[in-house]
Amino acid sequence: MNTNETGVERRVVVLGTGGTIAGRASAAGDNIGYTAAQVGVADLLGGIEAPAGVSLVAEQVAQVDSKDMTHAIWQALAARCAYWLAQDEVAGIAITHGTDTLEETAYVLHAVLRPGKPVVLTCAMRPATALAPDGPQNVRDAIAVAATPGAQGVTVVCAGTVHGAIDVQKVHTYRLDAFASGDAGAIGYVEQGAVRRVRPWPAGGEQASPALPDLALPWPRVEIVVSHAGASGAVIDALLSAGTTGGNAGPLRGIVLAATGNGTLHADIEAAAERAERAGVRVLRATRCLAGRILPRPDDRFRDAGGLGPMKARIALMLELMGLPAAGA
Ligand code: SIN
Repeated sequence: MNTNETGVERRVVVLGTGGTIAGRASAAGDNIGYTAAQVGVADLLGGIEAPAGVSLVAEQVAQVDSKDMTHAIWQALAARCAYWLAQDEVAGIAITHGTDTLEETAYVLHAVLRPGKPVVLTCAMRPATALAPDGPQNVRDAIAVAATPGAQGVTVVCAGTVHGAIDVQKVHTYRLDAFASGDAGAIGYVEQGAVRRVRPWPAGGEQASPALPDLALPWPRVEIVVSHAGASGAVIDALLSAGTTGGNAGPLRGIVLAATGNGTLHADIEAAAERAERAGVRVLRATRCLAGRILPRPDDRFRDAGGLGPMKARIALMLELMGLPAAGA
């Protein structure tokens, strides 16, 4: 057991969910032809030294390529976070995750937990079997953030940079430094195990251990429709008719329109979205642009998601339909 100078044990819990960080390739030089989600989280901690006075606990919550992330895994992950955050000795949580939907998971956890302790997601762009894997350093950095006194909220650590859950986006397909925070910029940097913060931690709850809201499955079905040159409203009409017959995914409850520029829509998409709204579907616009926010105009036909991109706006709308507060950008 590790205790600090006040004699209180401090723990960082590392939750595994899969991803490239847990991936295996048949050749060490292969950084793309690997299978994600193969190595257990306890093995990912092998050789990683915990910060002084901190002990590590590993728990496998899921083992998936994050392109296949599900609402059920989000529900289970949020529940495990809430459980561990409620333990006095837990200083924070680190989560190993695939890069592909990492920003979505970070946003969900931020919206439902708003933790007063740090919850830090991390990842890797190279599999665990690579000649020079980036995972071990990222895990080490994430644990350092999770153990930092005063840290709070949901963050993402990759390539030595700390991003906030609301702003972070994957912006590169291959580079190790694959994430950016747009106009908001990084929260800070991890250097030799110490955090150099350049802006405040994300707002956390007043309670160190937040109560988890009811996230009962199935979550309401919300789809994303992209507005683009030559777009057709037929996509929305097809979603609507599938929704009324009730497919595996349940009836359609919401549509996020991935809008051009400052939230503009192809006329055909706009007309179809009006039909959807009249049929009781909630409609929200989010910009396709990588940075900036939609600046509302008085004649806007549909609400906008501010600075949230389409994938996070989809989560915000699902939570709203579940009666839960979303988190804006
Ligand atoms: C994944 O997202 O699980 C695979 C890709 C990655 O982690 O980089």
